[in-house]
Parts: sequence; C-alpha cells; structure tokens
Amino acid sequence: MFFLKNLKSLFLLIMTTLTSAPILALDPHSFARIDEAVVQKLYLDIKVDFSRKIISGKAQWTIKKGADATAIHFDTKGLTIQKVTLNEDPTAINFSWGIDDVILGHELIIPLKATTVSVSIYYSTSPDAAACQWLESSQTAGKKLPFLFTQCQAILGRSLYPCQDSPGIRFTYEADVQVPTDMLALMSAENPTQKNATGKYHFRMTNPIPSYLMALAVGDIQFQSLGERTGVYAEPSMLEKSAYEFADMQKMLEAAEKLYGPYRWGKYDVLVLPPSFPFGGMENPRLTFATPTILAGDRSLVSLVSHELAHSWSGNLVTNANWNDFWLNEGFTVYFERRITEALYGKDFADMEAYLGMEDLKETLKDFENTPDATCLKLKLDGKDPDDGMNSIAYEKGYALLLLIEKTIGRDALDAFLRKYFDTHAFQTMNTEQFISYIEQDLFSKFPGAEEKIKLNDWIYKPGLPANCPVIVSEKFIEADREYQKWMDGAPAKNLNTGDWTTQQWLNFIDKLPTVISNERMIELDAAFKFSVSGNAEIADAWFLQSLIHNYSPAYIYMEKFLIEVGRRKFLMPLYKEMIKSAAGKELAMKIYKQARPNYHFVARQSVDEMLGWHEGL
Ligand code: BES
Ligand code: ZN
Repeated sequence: MFFLKNLKSLFLLIMTTLTSAPILALDPHSFARIDEAVVQKLYLDIKVDFSRKIISGKAQWTIKKGADATAIHFDTKGLTIQKVTLNEDPTAINFSWGIDDVILGHELIIPLKATTVSVSIYYSTSPDAAACQWLESSQTAGKKLPFLFTQCQAILGRSLYPCQDSPGIRFTYEADVQVPTDMLALMSAENPTQKNATGKYHFRMTNPIPSYLMALAVGDIQFQSLGERTGVYAEPSMLEKSAYEFADMQKMLEAAEKLYGPYRWGKYDVLVLPPSFPFGGMENPRLTFATPTILAGDRSLVSLVSHELAHSWSGNLVTNANWNDFWLNEGFTVYFERRITEALYGKDFADMEAYLGMEDLKETLKDFENTPDATCLKLKLDGKDPDDGMNSIAYEKGYALLLLIEKTIGRDALDAFLRKYFDTHAFQTMNTEQFISYIEQDLFSKFPGAEEKIKLNDWIYKPGLPANCPVIVSEKFIEADREYQKWMDGAPAKNLNTGDWTTQQWLNFIDKLPTVISNERMIELDAAFKFSVSGNAEIADAWFLQSLIHNYSPAYIYMEKFLIEVGRRKFLMPLYKEMIKSAAGKELAMKIYKQARPNYHFVARQSVDEMLGWHEGL
C-alpha cells in the first residue's frame, strides 16, 4: 500500500475501489487511468526563470478518451496550477485534486466534456522540483553562467510538467522554451546547435515517447559534430575533451544498427553535464545526458555511451510497461551495450566489463540477503519508490539471463530474435509476461529443450542467481591477476608489469585488494600508481573505498574534494556506506556531506540523507 497522507485520501481510495474503477490502472506508480482518457500529444510553452528557480507556462495536451470518460487524471508533484482550460476556449474550468501521496505526488483531475479534445494546464514548478537541478555558476565548468538540467526517470517528470507519468503511455511533443538570451536550451527532441539572440527555442519530438524521457537542459552550451548523425554538446571548456573521448560515436551507432536494425530517432548526440549529474548517463531520446566522470582522457569509459545508445532500442523503442518490468529496459540494454563494445573494441574488452558487472551483482546479492524478493528480475515496487529498484539486479542478472539464452541457442538465433522483437514492438510497451509468451512462441518453440535448460521462470520470479548462470571469464584479468599475485607475494608495486593496463584492469586490481594491508603497503601502492590523485573517477572512487577500508588517511583530503565535486550516486553511496561503519568515519561522513549536499541532485540527496539519517538542522 502506498502512504496516504490523510483520511480523505483513504476514503477516496476505498470509494474508487468499491466503484470498481481500476484506481491505478496497470501502473502502480501513476494516477493515470488508461481505460478512461490518455494523452497523445503535448505542446509545451514555458519560460525558464533562473532567478526564481521556476519553470512556468502552459502544457497543452491533446487527449484520447473513452466514450463515457468524464475526467482525465494527471500526475503532478509540487506543481502550482494557475488555471485549466478546454479546447480553444479561454474560460477557466474547475478542476480538482485527488490523492496526495508522499511518493506519487498529487493527483490532478480535470473534468471533460463530450467535445473535449485538448486540455491546457497553466502551471509553474516549485523551486525544489525533484526533476530539476539548478546549478549556480560556481558549480559549472565555466563559472560564468548558471545551469539547469532535468532528470525525469523514474517518476520525477511529474515535478517538471503535469503528465500521465507512466512508461506505458506515449506521446509526441513540441515545445517553445524561453531562456536567458546568453544560454542555449536543449531537449529530448530536434535540437539547435547554436545560441540565438532571442533565447527562444522551438523543439519537436515526432516519435511517441513515454513521460520519463522528457528532458531539458539550459546553460552555456556549445556543439561539436562527430559524424553525419552524431555530435556532442558541452560547456565550452569541456567540448574539446568530450569530442576526443566520444570520437567513436558514429561507429557505435553503425555497429548498433548492424546488430538490431535501424536507429529510428534521426540524430544521436550526447550532452556532457556538470559533475553533479546523479547518474552515469540518461537515455533521453536524441540527446543522452552524461556525467563528465566518464571523460578519462583515454576513451576507456565510453561503454556508457554504448549503453545509453542501446536504450534507443531497448527502453525508448520497446519500453517497460511499468517499473516492475525495469529489467526489460536495463538487462537488454546491458547485453546490447556489451555487443556494441565487443564489435568496436573486441571480446577481451567486453569480457572485462562483463566480469566487473558480475562482481557487482554478487555484491548486490549479498546486500539483499535479508530481502531476497528484491533480487527477482520481476520486481514488486508497488507502494515503494521505483528508485529502490535501481540496482545491479535488473542490469547484471538481466544481462546474465540473455547471455545464457545466447549460449543455449546460439548467437545468430538470439540476434535474429532480438531484431524482430524490436521491430515488432517498436514504439510499444512490453511487460514481463508479454515478453515470456513472445519468446516462448517466437524462439523457444524452434529449439526443443531450450526452455528446460534456461528455466526462464526461475530467473524472472525467483530470487538469487540460478545454478545455470554462465560463468564469466576474462583473459585480460587472468593476465593482470598474475601481477597482482606477485604483489601479494611481496614484490614492490613499482616492479609490476602494468604498463599497458586499461581502466578495467586497474579496477579489478583495486577491488581485489585483501582485507588486511599494512599502512606501508597502502603508501607504496599510492606512491607507485598515484591512485589518490587519479584523474580517472572510476579508479579514484575504487581507491577511496579501499582507503576507507584500510584506514589510509592520506587519501581522505582527495576523497573529500571528490565527494564535494561529484554527485554521481554510484560513486557516493559505497563511500558514505563504508564511512558510517565506525564512529570516527561517521563524523567524517557528516562533515563532508554538510559541504557536499548542496551540490547533489535530489535523487542523490534522497539516498544519502536516508543512509546517514541526515535531517535539516544537523
Ligand atoms: N536509465 C538509466 C538511468 C536511470 C535508471 C535513472 C533508473 C533513473 C532511474 C541509465 O540508462 C543507466 O542505466 N545509467 C547507468 C550507466 C550504465 C552504463 C549502467 C548509470 O547511470 O550508472
Ligand atoms: Zn540504462
């Protein structure tokens, strides 16, 4: 059950249940009622006000309704609604508010007439809207202008615009966005490549997308082309570095198309955001949002771009019906990502990443020992924040299942199946049960015995990792392990043969370090390999974790700087988690977090607040 704020909500819930209207039709995280009225097309006319940290304007929704629908239900969170009008009639109509829930937000109910084809909602966002991160100029690379970016997945979109915030509902959109004249605005749509003097930009997304793929970024942003259909946007001082890192993007796009069919979104660009972006990447259509922490200088972390690009098929084209089916988005995408990586950089490279992924998965399985249900592929997030489902289960257990299918029936057969799966369900929704019946019919029926070997239902509905999980071997790590063993046997770090190691081999080395290491040997490692001052965020993060585990305090000043600058949740969480294991560590965590918190996005803040028991006034 979700959290109800008051008795009125409870009463409403009982009433709607009694009258047998499906209250949260199909998607437990949305108030939309798809059997009554759904959105089809959006025209957004908004103004971005940096001084008040508010976005305001009009969301005009063209809708489709059932014959006897008398209302349409929207999701909102923290939105102020000034007025609502129907069709082209400027007269404000009465609307009402339904359930108000801490996780789901506030249900907005707009009554419809028989003739209604569109509803216009005049609204403004709240300055602390969860989807928006408003950065001061000091938090940007250029330090001259402020910056705004949005993050809508999973259910934050409702704090940016009134919408039917369910991945099962799709719409096309156009937008007019007014921003300060010295800034460029970008969306998950056809984008400008240059600023204009008016600060007014027009956008179009002609493919139907779900609400969580709405995106907006505003700042001092420049564009550089990387190929016919690919390019990169970044703050001016980050552009050259970004273009170098992503030089292979056009090739990635071509490799992806060769695997699973045409890219259907026109252009594919990446926007490099300031370091407070809470994720590694976000697959906003036509314009992936990415963290600058993948700019390692040696292109070793670009598989993140393959991942977000792969979502243009798995996720954006065939979309999980609701967040309980999240593995359909992410598991498929990790499999697809590694196939792109393999095509571009070879099997050895893809194997290293798969191995690290499996290690990550094993850690997560340990973390969930007491809540095994969370380790099923199909989730039960009803009543919970869907963000809770964002861990390596969907990604790596999902990947392992697809790898098992590949190993059982052969790569060619799986590729043919996947290509057809994307074609057949393009711009549609998919849930776990539909997927099972589709794969049984379309694939397993052609391979007698395959289903018994794979045991799909065990993978999907049972916790943990089934016994038939493929073993992942990495030749490159076996090589690197020999050097590691030498060090363990007492060889000095500087004598190790690490000259040609990539980021992934370093990560494997650092993650493997034993539970007990003398302080001298930590000093020796740091002196030989300069981990504490590494410009590679993955390596630095892995090293800081080891430094905490081994009480290697010389690294702490660098860790502190890292935690204040970088807001990527994947990096923050393990460090804070390790710190709070001791009283002294907890003090350090609180001291750092106090400074770092204002730099973090809502989703990162929410996670760290909970872990540290942080509350206002501390
Ligand atoms: N779609 C996700 C990010 C996401 C998931 C945001 C759930 C909000 C809720 C994105 O594609 C992703 O998976 N990003 C990963 C990187 C990837 C290489 C595994 C990340 O941000 O770490
Ligand atoms: Zn993803």
